[in-house]
Amino acid sequence: MNKEQEFLLSRRSVRKFSPVKIEDEKIKIIIKAGMYAPSAHNRQPWHFIVIRSRKLMNEIPKIHKYAEMTKNADAVILVCADIEKQDDSGYFSQDCSAATENILLSAHIEGIGACWLGVYPLKERMENIKRLLNLKKNLVPFSMIALGYPDNSIKNEDPKRYEEKKIEFME
Ligand SMILES: Cc1cc2nc3c(=O)[nH]c(=O)nc-3n(C[C@H](O)[C@H](O)[C@H](O)COP(=O)(O)O)c2cc1C
Repeated sequence: MNKEQEFLLSRRSVRKFSPVKIEDEKIKIIIKAGMYAPSAHNRQPWHFIVIRSRKLMNEIPKIHKYAEMTKNADAVILVCADIEKQDDSGYFSQDCSAATENILLSAHIEGIGACWLGVYPLKERMENIKRLLNLKKNLVPFSMIALGYPDNSIKNEDPKRYEEKKIEFME
């Protein structure tokens, strides 16, 4: 396997961050990768909200029980689906997933740690996020991505997920 492939496999969810700040420009670069994701009919039905307010990042764990790390994240990206561009939830959820994963990989390339926080399709969580951020009607909160430079103590071990038996070739 070449170095780029190995690097791709070394992405892990990061939940412990150092206090080093991420420049807005870097955040835009990684969001650009999200915008280059594939989408059904190429509708690109996404909208990205970058949360840099400490107050808001401290509020998130109160409405999302698996998001404790946002308290020490440097930023949180909320990936939203714009239902004016794509109202089929089956499609917008795949489009926004692709965008979310591209952002995680792009953050990894930049040396920025990231963790995907599930939002859609949990109704209560979605409603609470809509209220917290006063989202426009056309935006459906899909996922959040906590971002920060990784804490030095994090060890990155290979989780050894490759399973030959999950692959079937058909001739
Ligand atoms: C749809 C989805 C929702 C997730 N939600 C959370 C979450 O709420 N909190 C969290 O800490 N991690 C969350 N994760 C991250 C997973 O726990 C993580 O990807 C998984 O344990 C594999 O670890 P890895 O990302 O390090 O490879 C989520 C991942 C996905 C794809």
